Amino acid sequence: MTDSFNRPIDYVRIAITDRCNLRCFYCMPAEGMPYEAKSHLLSFEEIKRILIVLGTLGFKKIRFTGGEPFLRKDFMQLLAETAKLEAYESIHITSNGTLLQKHIQKLKDLGITKINLSLDTLNKDRFHEITRRDDFEKVMQTFYMLVDHKFQIKLNAVIMKGINTQDIIPLAELAKKHAVDVRFIEEMPFNGGYKNNKDMYRATDIFADLKAYYSTLEKLPSHHGDTASLFRVPGYKGNIGLIAAFSRTFCGTCNRLRISSKGEIKSCLYDDGTINIRDFIRSGVSNEVLADKFREIIRLKPMDGFTAEKMRKSPSNVMQSMSSIGG
Ligand code: GTP
Ligand code: 5AD
Ligand code: SF4
Repeated sequence: MTDSFNRPIDYVRIAITDRCNLRCFYCMPAEGMPYEAKSHLLSFEEIKRILIVLGTLGFKKIRFTGGEPFLRKDFMQLLAETAKLEAYESIHITSNGTLLQKHIQKLKDLGITKINLSLDTLNKDRFHEITRRDDFEKVMQTFYMLVDHKFQIKLNAVIMKGINTQDIIPLAELAKKHAVDVRFIEEMPFNGGYKNNKDMYRATDIFADLKAYYSTLEKLPSHHGDTASLFRVPGYKGNIGLIAAFSRTFCGTCNRLRISSKGEIKSCLYDDGTINIRDFIRSGVSNEVLADKFREIIRLKPMDGFTAEKMRKSPSNVMQSMSSIGG
């Protein structure tokens, strides 16, 4: 399926829960968010049905996000079912790394080895400041276990002025010994409360820091649909990436559709949501009608994140937490 700008749309991100066991301040207020009732979340069968229908429309890549996806009890079963769907070439997970250790062998058995791990600092105290929880050691242990088991790991670090810019080089240095992509992300205003982004640290600022430290930094070719611009330091096993999530420089090759934990479809991260697919499914529609609805939504996908933001009906939605959108 292509959208009206001729972009192939074949990557679906599903937030399977809005619950999280961390409280990263760029994502949620300290007191947490009022979680949706479990009956408002997409059910196991609804998610499976959505994936089957999107498979018939040519979707090839799935990412499960949350909240923290491993908080959902039926997640491993959902992965096992998804792995059986032939339409999909790859299944990805974005996780905070606190709960997945015990599932590593099963994930390997299912052939699910592409994991993006959120880690904003290598300093235990700063980890606590940012996440408001004490799980630094656990996340590091998960990281090393995933490395040992040869998972394809991407580390996601949201970089914020006055908070963790000093972590950029130490985090990037993980790519020296390990074949991982260390990706630095601009903070976006999805934090469950209003926050002025004028003081934000842009991808260009992060790049300047990297360039000052790594004089030999080389740009790598980009692939269709990539959010990250990738770089390498000669001799390093892994790569270093920049994700201009707020500057939105990669919209031209956008290939994604998002489904929030309660079933809102977002054809762009910055839009208001199109329809609620959970309610649509629960109204008793057939798979054909469901497929037509997805076609219609994809055709109306906005050109870029700036257009999507302008078209929003309620600007207050900028307060929506990333934990329900799924990043
Ligand atoms: P890969 O598929 O492995 O490249 O990962 P990804 O970048 O698509 O997904 P991930 O969940 O790791 O997200 C990394 C960061 O990029 C997060 O901060 C996301 O919110 C942000 N991001 C992901 N997709 C989009 C997008 O479509 N638009 C914008 N503006 N940011 C995005
Ligand atoms: N800005 C940028 N990235 C964010 N993430 C969560 N909230 C924000 C935000 N406000 C990131 C997480 C995770 C990914 C899915 O999205 O760190 O790695
Ligand atoms: Fe796609 Fe919107 Fe993200 Fe741009 S901001 S890459 S159009 S989802």
